[in-house]
Amino acid sequence: MDAPAASRYHELYARSLRDPQGFWAEAAQDIEWYQPAKTVFDGGAGVYGRWFADAVCNTCYNAIDRHVAAGRANQTALIYDSPVTNTVRSYTYNDALAEIATLAAVLEDFGVTKSDRVIIYMPMVPEAVFAMLACARIGAVHSVVFGGFAAKELATRIDDCKPKLILSASCGVEPARTVPYKPLLDQAIELATHKPDACMILQRPQVEAPLIAGRDHDWATLRDTALRERKSAPCVPVLATDPLYILYTSGTTGIPKGVVRDNGGHMVALKWSMKNLYDVSPGEVYWSASDIGWVVGHSYIVYAPLLHGCTTILYEGKPVGTPDAGAFWRVISQHHAVSMFTAPTAFRAIKKEDPTGKLIGNYDLSKFRSLFLAGERADPDTVKWAEEKLRKPVIDHWWQTETGWCIVGNPVGLGMLPVKRGSPTVPMPGYDVRIVDEANNELPANTMGSIVIKLPLPPAALPTLYENDDRFKESYLTEFPGYYKTADAGFKDDDGYVSIMGRTDDIINVAGHRLSTGGMEEVLSGHKDVAECAVVGIKDELKGEVPCGFVVLKTGVNRPADEIEKEIVALVREKIGPVAAFKLVVTVARLPKTRSGKILRGTIKKIADGDAWDMPATIDDPAVLDEIKAGLKGKGVGV
Ligand code: COA
Ligand code: AMP
Repeated sequence: MDAPAASRYHELYARSLRDPQGFWAEAAQDIEWYQPAKTVFDGGAGVYGRWFADAVCNTCYNAIDRHVAAGRANQTALIYDSPVTNTVRSYTYNDALAEIATLAAVLEDFGVTKSDRVIIYMPMVPEAVFAMLACARIGAVHSVVFGGFAAKELATRIDDCKPKLILSASCGVEPARTVPYKPLLDQAIELATHKPDACMILQRPQVEAPLIAGRDHDWATLRDTALRERKSAPCVPVLATDPLYILYTSGTTGIPKGVVRDNGGHMVALKWSMKNLYDVSPGEVYWSASDIGWVVGHSYIVYAPLLHGCTTILYEGKPVGTPDAGAFWRVISQHHAVSMFTAPTAFRAIKKEDPTGKLIGNYDLSKFRSLFLAGERADPDTVKWAEEKLRKPVIDHWWQTETGWCIVGNPVGLGMLPVKRGSPTVPMPGYDVRIVDEANNELPANTMGSIVIKLPLPPAALPTLYENDDRFKESYLTEFPGYYKTADAGFKDDDGYVSIMGRTDDIINVAGHRLSTGGMEEVLSGHKDVAECAVVGIKDELKGEVPCGFVVLKTGVNRPADEIEKEIVALVREKIGPVAAFKLVVTVARLPKTRSGKILRGTIKKIADGDAWDMPATIDDPAVLDEIKAGLKGKGVGV
């Protein structure tokens, strides 16, 4: 299949690999630097080299101040649209600057300075966005923790990044309930070995949180006092390679990986992506219906649209139920969004409630140009449904928290390439994507293999894990020397289109949320009656995948299995959080294993999904698989 002659993609992509320094030096001209890079890429710095190593910049300056100075002061920077609290509120770039500079001064009053860590454990409210940018303004390093995580997950992150300050709120608001955050925060601080100096708590009217004297401070009081005293912190120049944030993501154990994002490369790649990939211009309204707790929220609710001088939408709601499956169309038409970005699971939820797409007709989507999907494989049925109902381009693109932006996508701004449903299209500039076998030999077209990326990674991708170069090397760089291991498997077709078929490790994707089954197994093993266990991701019509736990009880346990199963479900919710969507446990007498004792998780998954499977040659006792089938059948699952 030939690309339309109009696409500049092939020429640009080839140049990005032939002359990466020239390519990214040119892109860097769209950023304002205190001192531009003399060395665009320093191959000797860091673990695999660093971009813009000697440049000096400030991300908040480029996201906010720069636009105020350049005539966008009265343009809306942020629209807060919250159907769960019945609120719509807008902030101009000028308003945002005042809020951020004031909050940054408050942070400085707490003694927060350049390179100090600040945890942000907050719902989808404007203050959370201001907090991220206030940290960026003074060179502090934020680490946002998703609200659906439990206290233990928060505690692990506190101990890893050792924040000086934690910013939180009294509650999150889910459609059917409020989620008090403060008890989770208090418990996390109690569990953690590291104690923050102080906490700033945003009181929301839905739930008022009692404050702990000496440690907790009321956000609104601090803000009002700082405003009254006209406090305002200037932007602090930082090195392009200084960390902007740490975002924890699931690894193959219960200890999450602290993905580090730098300042300079991140700005350059994100700014480039707004026009060339998303085809959005400064001044237009761009919407990413994600959560600021995830990488998509960091990059495309907060940083990229603001770096580009767009209006961004912060949506505190769901695709369905707030109030109905027309919510996305209402937001697009009310705020004149030209482009939106969400996870396929959101569209599956909408399709389920409004299969004919009749609610779309109630709204004016004339300004809307394209829909981007990521976070999990976009199944061809969902893409087809969205294309037919919206009659707009639907673009799947492949991402990882580690890369911070798209690895494989369809560059609409360069001239859209033909869509092949099921494939996110082609590698973005700087990503030399290869499909290899276990020995790192490149595989021919249309052959499944491990997806790796030739080093160096392009700007914005992680330089390392927070204070853990060794884990970074071991997790990503050791198995395929000279390449970054994505831990995704897939293939390239004859036109170079890449398809992503699944993970090669124990990570699963539940409603676009990345979770570790290894982490869940650690929780299950912690139950007093569990002798051994396995957790696999099984197919789910709505969420793509959901976790399913298999447990073998200790000898002598004679309580009813369903009682223990309920306790296990509650334990995962308590230790990992509701976001794990862990609701299914099957008690079995034994687990299928190889003769060397390895649990056959892949075979269990195929049985549960009702997929074809072969009897593993190395299985110890084939009869165990019948017991797994019977156990699943008892729960009404697949088979
Ligand atoms: N704070 C507290 N709890 C949260 C939360 C938050 N920020 N986000 C989710 N939860 C809770 C939910 O209330 C739910 O709790 P429950 O078990 O008591 O019902 C649980 O975590 C699971 O949430 P979720 O997986 O989101 O399921 P859902 O049934 O609430 O909604 C979808 C299903 C498909 C509508 C929803 O998952 C969705 O919109 N997904 C899009 C994901 C996305 O944007 N990903 C970002 C990558 S682009
Ligand atoms: P996260 O780090 O949470 O963004 O999750 C990254 C993982 O989600 C990837 O490694 C993939 O397994 C999966 N993923 C993200 N986007 C896509 C996509 N467009 N197609 C297939 N899988 C995807």
